[in-house]
Amino acid sequence: MVAQKYKDLAPTPPMGWNSWNTFEVNIDEKLVMETADLMVSSGMASVGYNYIVLDDGWMAKERDANGNLLPDPAKFPSGIKVLIDYVHAKGLKFGLYNCAGTKTCAGFPGTRGYEFHDAFFYASLNIDYLKYDWCNTEGISAKEAYTTMSNALQKAGKPIVFSLCEWGDNQPWNWGEPIGNLWRISGDIYPCYDCEHSHGTWSSWGFFRIAEMRKDIRQFSGPDHWNDFDMLEVGNGMTYQEDKSHFALWCMLASPLIAGNDFRSMSSETLKILTNKELIAINQDALGIQGFKYSENNELAIWVKPLQNGDWAVSFFNKSTIEKDVNFNWKNHAFTDALNQLSAQFKTTVYAIKDVWNTKYKSTTVKPFQSKLASHDVITLRLTPQ
Ligand code: GLA
Repeated sequence: MVAQKYKDLAPTPPMGWNSWNTFEVNIDEKLVMETADLMVSSGMASVGYNYIVLDDGWMAKERDANGNLLPDPAKFPSGIKVLIDYVHAKGLKFGLYNCAGTKTCAGFPGTRGYEFHDAFFYASLNIDYLKYDWCNTEGISAKEAYTTMSNALQKAGKPIVFSLCEWGDNQPWNWGEPIGNLWRISGDIYPCYDCEHSHGTWSSWGFFRIAEMRKDIRQFSGPDHWNDFDMLEVGNGMTYQEDKSHFALWCMLASPLIAGNDFRSMSSETLKILTNKELIAINQDALGIQGFKYSENNELAIWVKPLQNGDWAVSFFNKSTIEKDVNFNWKNHAFTDALNQLSAQFKTTVYAIKDVWNTKYKSTTVKPFQSKLASHDVITLRLTPQ
């Protein structure tokens, strides 16, 4: 069975909001409407966030008499269609969640055996995005299960971004490109810098752990087929410096930018991070190249990302618990992306430097870059050849 996904639905990494990281199954129509309102009024929509995705917990415990998935009537008394129309009327897009198994991870009706039925149901609702998870799938092949659903979505006729959430267990980067537009590459994220958070039989991971875990599969990510490093934890309890580093790293990695915080209580610092246009431009760069780690010495890590027109993004991360001095003499370095045959040769080319967190800073690569960097903080520079 060969899958043919809808093409060009995600030429750049998808941007939006998902309910899970903050609300888990405690979602309802008031929350969704308020989140959609705030996505527009806060300015998030104008910098590119457009998908509102309901994760696990939107359904009732059983399907209806016709076998249709039933939105939980207590959480969504007006029905899900009204909500979808509401979100669409704001100029935004709408996504839902289900699972390839018999039940979702939180125990709601799964899609196994109902793939075509559910695909036609989603098309009738006019949704734009489907996150498709991997719980309760014992004994089935991931590639086959995701292919079946991809084909079902095709058959139903409504272009829907297909987000594979298989946690990287069966290396979806090896087979996902014809099937879906993005795929998770790890277990769930946790709002910490680089911790492992144990749940007994499984763990969730700090953002730097996820990046390190999957930095070597960058050749599989690109326009319309993204490595998904999981939804953002910006605004969910880490320090300001850690939130900055998390967002910068996701931009360097060309990961989807799906906010996971409560917009109704978002601080101005969180909003400022999530709407940093220069960072978003690095994430949304048309080449769609996943950045890579250039070096790490003494807990100072440097990640780089080639951008269109010969530009490069460079991020300095202080992974230590103390302040560090960054002293980077460009002339002693060259960045090479062998995979894409791109390089930055600082001996022969001078680049203009913009600090995207501090737009007042301007310099060039003629002189060394020097700065203090607080614990767990980040500096991100955009280099443009002169
Ligand atoms: C899995 C996914 C999460 C979330 C939950 C919902 O753990 O990886 O992103 O969707 O299921 O139950």
